[in-house]
Amino acid sequence: MIIEPQIVRGGLVKNPHPIGCKAVVKRQIDYVKAKGAFSNKKKVLIIGGSSGYGLASRVAMAYGANADTICVSFETGITQKRIGTAGWWNNIWFKHFAENDGLIAKNVIGDAFSDELKQQVIDIIQKDFGGKIDALIYSLASPRRTDPKTGVTHESVLKSTIGEISAPTLDLSKKTITPGKMAAATQQDIDNTIKVMGGEDWQLWIDALQKADVLAQGFKTTAYSYDGAKATDAIYKKGTIGAAKRHLEKTAHMLNDVLQPVHGEAFVTVAKALVTKASAFIPLFPLYGCALFKVMKEEGTHENTIEQIDRFMRDMMYGESRIIDEAGRIRPDNLEMQSNTQQKVNAIMAQMTPQNFKQISDFDGFYQDFLALNGFGISDVDYQEEIDIDMLKTLTP
Ligand code: NAI
Repeated sequence: MIIEPQIVRGGLVKNPHPIGCKAVVKRQIDYVKAKGAFSNKKKVLIIGGSSGYGLASRVAMAYGANADTICVSFETGITQKRIGTAGWWNNIWFKHFAENDGLIAKNVIGDAFSDELKQQVIDIIQKDFGGKIDALIYSLASPRRTDPKTGVTHESVLKSTIGEISAPTLDLSKKTITPGKMAAATQQDIDNTIKVMGGEDWQLWIDALQKADVLAQGFKTTAYSYDGAKATDAIYKKGTIGAAKRHLEKTAHMLNDVLQPVHGEAFVTVAKALVTKASAFIPLFPLYGCALFKVMKEEGTHENTIEQIDRFMRDMMYGESRIIDEAGRIRPDNLEMQSNTQQKVNAIMAQMTPQNFKQISDFDGFYQDFLALNGFGISDVDYQEEIDIDMLKTLTP
């Protein structure tokens, strides 16, 4: 079987390319290996570690801190209709490489929001992982969450808290800009989005892990956030997602106190705008990304996912060069936020039309990164080679 990229419904890729995903994971590993170690050995739990920022965190810790890792993610394998999800293959290949390099790599597939899965992870830590973890990276992006206490399922929405706004976006299947609107959020929308993408579940994880006494002295935990500037303010900071991120920040302050008995710390990390499965769906965000990539590549400051996370962990989480803002958040997005960069991005955004956006922005680079999320467009992969589905079915995460 030969797998082609089939983009459906604007920004969803029907099938990932399993061998392409292997090459993408390997590239990330090679990047960190080449930079060398930044910490002594660690044991790390990553919630949402199968793709995007979570996968990069797993790779950076494994290859920069010799870390044994547990990854929690919500992914599916081969079914009648699909060749699994990209995250499924990323989990399989990460484990393959890490185990070959002598590291423990456990993949737990299921609903991170549930009490059962938290207990399953605690059992693994106690029985097969040496009993303690040194860090927890919280990198979930989810459309819904069932509250384990009430059983109620909350849906997160991308809406505006300042009334309906115009929010054109990229249709990645047609490679066009489509006009769009971001609807006004009700209080219920805001509350639901906070329930899903705010800090409540992060706090429940820390509570459960602390009660089980599996946090090592000096334990660190971070959750990823985005801040953005003028160009994305209306859809992000002033959107339902921004409200959820502020809840995450409040949670970090509270967790900092909670972690004092183990001399631990909790903080929010504000990361750069990048193409991931989750961010491709935020209105306007992909257009901003195309303009940002153009400017940052010209300025020589652009970083891809692994470059951004490696610098954050090497210099800031475990290094001595932390950039901290007035709210106590760590800011590896500092290069994106430079005022000259933002000025140039704003100038491109102001000129952008459906006719000229491919010429005046880095649409090609953005699109390439989008394809790579599912293992496509990687130079050292032969896409004409038959994929052995029966062999792939025998692999498990
Ligand atoms: P992603 O879509 O690549 O990864 C999301 C992860 O969450 C996957 O591993 C997925 O399996 C997992 N997941 C989703 N629902 C789950 C569930 N119920 N149980 C277990 N696992 C589940 O997303 P991305 O973009 O890496 O986002 C991670 C975090 O980074 C988010 O908090 C996002 O807001 C933040 N961030 C993203 C930026 C971007 O430009 N992509 C910028 C700054 C922050």
